[in-house]
Amino acid sequence: MSGTAAQGPRLRASLDGIPTYKPGKPAGADSFKLSSNENPYEPLPGVLEAAVAAAGSFNRYPDMAAVELTEELARRFEVPAEHVALGTGSVSVAQSLVLATAGPGDEVIFAWRSFEAYPIITQVAGATPVPVPLTGDEAHDLDAMLAAITPRTRLILVCNPNNPTGVAIRRPELERFLAAVPGDILVVLDEAYREFLRDEQVPDGVELYRSRPNVCVLRTFSKAYGLAGLRVGFAIAHEPVATALRKTAVPFGVSQLAQDAAVASLRAEDALLVRVQALVEERTRVSAALREQGWPLVESQANFVWLRLGERTVDFAAAAGAAGVIVRPFPGEGVRVTIGETAANDLFLSVAEAFRKEV
Ligand SMILES: Cc1ncc(COP(=O)(O)O)c(C=O)c1O
Repeated sequence: MSGTAAQGPRLRASLDGIPTYKPGKPAGADSFKLSSNENPYEPLPGVLEAAVAAAGSFNRYPDMAAVELTEELARRFEVPAEHVALGTGSVSVAQSLVLATAGPGDEVIFAWRSFEAYPIITQVAGATPVPVPLTGDEAHDLDAMLAAITPRTRLILVCNPNNPTGVAIRRPELERFLAAVPGDILVVLDEAYREFLRDEQVPDGVELYRSRPNVCVLRTFSKAYGLAGLRVGFAIAHEPVATALRKTAVPFGVSQLAQDAAVASLRAEDALLVRVQALVEERTRVSAALREQGWPLVESQANFVWLRLGERTVDFAAAAGAAGVIVRPFPGEGVRVTIGETAANDLFLSVAEAFRKEV
């Protein structure tokens, strides 16, 4: 065997520095999973039936153009069908966006800490991540993000509201930011948690995209719609960008099951949004209780809360795990806790209270 063969295939050196995506820990039989910002509810009946019906034909490839879902989305958002691009979860659409805009030598700007896939998908494309620290209030530092723009910048990812802090950017700041970004740089408004927003001063990205050819919106069926396991998300983007997304996406990525369940979800939206409202009310209750316990808390507009625990992050996560609640620690920074079913939230609150008293 030659030396080269013994060493195995040569892989791209740029992969060496890339962390692998860490999923939220799975819950054991006797614990609650509050680590992945999932929706705690079971699928609505109509949605489950649509998925089950589609399961009967999984010997066939899905509709590659996802015509029915695309048209449903186009109608709902009042955009041309050509502006809708689907993917296996919005994370894969985000990856397609990076692949469509940035390669070696190019830069991708995003806030940090934000969605942990951003640096990964940037480096997978061979591009350079430019993380810009959040402000002391856990918000995007839009001025610093503008200052980070160079002639090599190709893409800016804006997570609104931000994962993991839950803080949302309001209209005047976001409009000012978009006006200052050069028109040849694509700005992605990642609105994975849009449906949980209750601050009316936060703009709808779809409205911002309409008159701005360099703005694109990302949405997902994984969170409010409760289809995380089926993997379907989408971008709304002007035609050149949407067309590029169809080129960089993996063909036949979105299964028929996912397509049909997503269509059924849109048609069952009223019922779904009642559930979302219940989660928002739980968020209000949990946030108030945490403040009552003495935790300094930023206002979350998403389906999770953020505790900046610094050095105590890992200890808190361990204490929560021991009590039966799996949370998401970012060691040295803080813990993100999804708003789940009431019993899970109550258990989390009792852990938080005990921890607060201890330190
Ligand atoms: C901000 C943000 N964007 C995108 C995603 C990806 O979600 P999905 O790929 O399930 O649509 C997530 C998931 O956690 C997220 O937090």
